[in-house]
Amino acid sequence: MTVLSQTALLLELEPVVETNLDRHLSMAKEWFPHEYVPWSEGRTFDGPLGGEAWSETDSTIPDIARTALIVNLLTEDNLPSYHHQIATLFGQDGAWGTWVHRWTAEEARHGTAIRDYLTVTRAVDPVALERARMVHMSTGYRNAHDEEMLHSLAYVSFQELATRISHRNTGKATGDPTCDALLARVAADENLHMVFYRNLLAAAFELAPGQAMRAVADVLADFQMPGNGIEGFARKSVAIALAGIYDLRQHRDEVVVPVLRQWDVFNVAGLDADGEAARDQIAAHLDDLERAASRFEEKRAARAARLAAR
Ligand SMILES: [Fe+2]
Ligand SMILES: [Fe+2]
Repeated sequence: MTVLSQTALLLELEPVVETNLDRHLSMAKEWFPHEYVPWSEGRTFDGPLGGEAWSETDSTIPDIARTALIVNLLTEDNLPSYHHQIATLFGQDGAWGTWVHRWTAEEARHGTAIRDYLTVTRAVDPVALERARMVHMSTGYRNAHDEEMLHSLAYVSFQELATRISHRNTGKATGDPTCDALLARVAADENLHMVFYRNLLAAAFELAPGQAMRAVADVLADFQMPGNGIEGFARKSVAIALAGIYDLRQHRDEVVVPVLRQWDVFNVAGLDADGEAARDQIAAHLDDLERAASRFEEKRAARAARLAAR
């Protein structure tokens, strides 16, 4: 079986990009971040304008929701790095280029909308948030397989869905209907992004099944959320998992499994030896995830029981 080069893959997938770009544009609904922000709740801050400093008691949304909102926003903030990655890999010409720019434009409103909401409602410390943004963006972002087309497509297929779920559950965790509505709107964008990338990789499975399978296996083996470079990410993501906003069970059952099912990976024909080996790795990975997710759920239940008994 011939191995397709990066350039050949780009060329072969271009018509699929075109079709799915049209699909995306017909499905995507225009929306306006400013309509989701309760501006009349806002007050001037201290500093040059002499308003009131932020205080913990300015907002009643739960701590864990604040943590998740910060992680989600910082993740969105790193858009310049993501744009650089896909513009370098997919190029800026033709349908690929149109997608790169359109996707970037859609993503940019996520950070805008969430930051406006957080600032106006005083949900989080704006000084700490700004300092965290500076640190995070100064570090930049690279995904582990940023020079490989199919690996990148596989990564974003999972990552967009993961982000969708994380936004959605963060919205619920705030207990604030305004924030919930905003994050539901953002999550709807992420879902369309996921579908776009997932369809592209589905086409790659027809074009180069072994290479596509290898990409999926490699990406799942070292999958990390895009915000993993955020200061204190490990601690924050444990808290987020304990709260059920994004945990291993959701990662396995609501992200990895549904996407694999769409590609029908266990029935893909025409695999070479490496493709077969990759598929075995995916099966083993699903078993590992199952064990890890169950273990986490048990620990979380035991912890909840301990806390209840206090
Ligand atoms: Fe986003
Ligand atoms: Fe997205």
